[in-house]
Amino acid sequence: MKVIGRSPAKVILFGEHFVVNGNTAISMAIDLPTQVIVEDLSNKSIHISSDNLGVTATFSRDGKTTQVLGPNAESILRPVFETASFTMRKFCSAGRGMKIRIASSVPVGMGLGSSAATAVATVAATAALQGKHLAKDDIFDAAYTLEKLVHGRPSGIDQATITHGGLIMYSNGKVDDKLNVPEPPRFIIGNTGKGRSTGELVAKVTKLRQESGATYASIASEAQEIAEKASRALRIGDQRAVGGLMNQNQRLLEMVGVSSPELEALILAARGAGALGAKLTGGGGGGCMIALVDQQASTRVARHIEEAGGQVIEGKFSADGVQSFIQEE
Ligand code: MEV
Repeated sequence: MKVIGRSPAKVILFGEHFVVNGNTAISMAIDLPTQVIVEDLSNKSIHISSDNLGVTATFSRDGKTTQVLGPNAESILRPVFETASFTMRKFCSAGRGMKIRIASSVPVGMGLGSSAATAVATVAATAALQGKHLAKDDIFDAAYTLEKLVHGRPSGIDQATITHGGLIMYSNGKVDDKLNVPEPPRFIIGNTGKGRSTGELVAKVTKLRQESGATYASIASEAQEIAEKASRALRIGDQRAVGGLMNQNQRLLEMVGVSSPELEALILAARGAGALGAKLTGGGGGGCMIALVDQQASTRVARHIEEAGGQVIEGKFSADGVQSFIQEE
């Protein structure tokens, strides 16, 4: 028997970084799937491979690698091993061997939640293989607990969006609300192709908050107001207002130092081509930006983002969060 865990990716529409320190953020699941395919292995090891990254590693149950293939295979795949082991210890009887194959369409390290998508799908698939169909809250808790071990102070918004799907408002480690909207907002995603570390960018904002508390507090309070206004605008489908608020949010992200010239080139190109609003999404520093578009402007905005050096990714709304399916052979 094989089990497939399938998760969406995510874009943050409002409030990234500020959400780490208690603000509200709004994020949306997008239909860029990550599939984690798991099956039993007769020996007790855990064999993991990633199709996209071309890496393979076999781990013994106590975490030693017995076989490693491909550049940085161990550091790339160890978090997956930790996720599967944790899930088995917490929810199932540990001790079985397992083969895990990852096939993802999410670019790695670009702010679209690639590591959360793999972790969430791994938790769901590992438990389902052992006969446990976990509740969404348990999947989120497991993926968030693991992320805290790796990254120090994540907000958990990536794991929550990818687990639950849809459009969510999130703060302080929980989903405050699922936003029902007349029509999902339509985004063009522009990838700068410049990799960066979310952990380092979060540390940069933390340093600013520690060194200039009053300045940070006033920027964060403006970000909170923007997120609250945006939730109202999204609920009534006022796309123009949503776009204007995205532009204001981008300015605050520039003030805390997480934008970059590459991101700003794509953001300006999108706005110039008729996007209703544009901002970076996720950790910033590189990675991706999003542009809110109506149907007429969509093709033109995509073309201008490409001409400014970005790679365009379609960011269709995904109402579904993580799912797992049994594939009988
Ligand atoms: C990363 O997708 C979003 C950040 O706010 C970090 C976090 O919330 O953990 C930058």
